[in-house]
Amino acid sequence: MSLSDVELIAAATEARNKAYAPYSTYYVGAALIDEKDKVHVGCNVENSSFPLGTCAEAGAISSMIASGGKKIKVIAAVGGRESLEACTPCGGCRQRINEFADADTRIVVLDEQGQLASYSMDEMLPESFRLERK
Ligand code: THU
Repeated sequence: MSLSDVELIAAATEARNKAYAPYSTYYVGAALIDEKDKVHVGCNVENSSFPLGTCAEAGAISSMIASGGKKIKVIAAVGGRESLEACTPCGGCRQRINEFADADTRIVVLDEQGQLASYSMDEMLPESFRLERK
């Protein structure tokens, strides 16, 4: 059985509690459901050499791929310095999600009021770059 959006946000929040972000002090967690209804989580992991830091979404995607998952059905992301703030995936992460998304993929975040908001991939990354496989 698949997690609800509320449960997926809770899983992302739990992952966020483990984020390593001493430089920005902005803590992000992500949780996704793959095509087999398996849940994968990630958090941001910063580095003293700043560009080496990785985003929460990248961690969750890496976990999915390493365990054999192929498609993202839903991905939730939450972030903020102290309490949760409205936080949407950065541009790079939109492209990362897009790699494993289809027309039904949803991206779930919290809005300014702390309410769930759900977007399609096309809403998050319109006119996205596509490269045909050889
Ligand atoms: N961050 C994420 O983990 N995901 C995003 O989509 C946006 C940004 C992280 C990167 C960095 O560790 C911190 O948030 C502040 O930019």
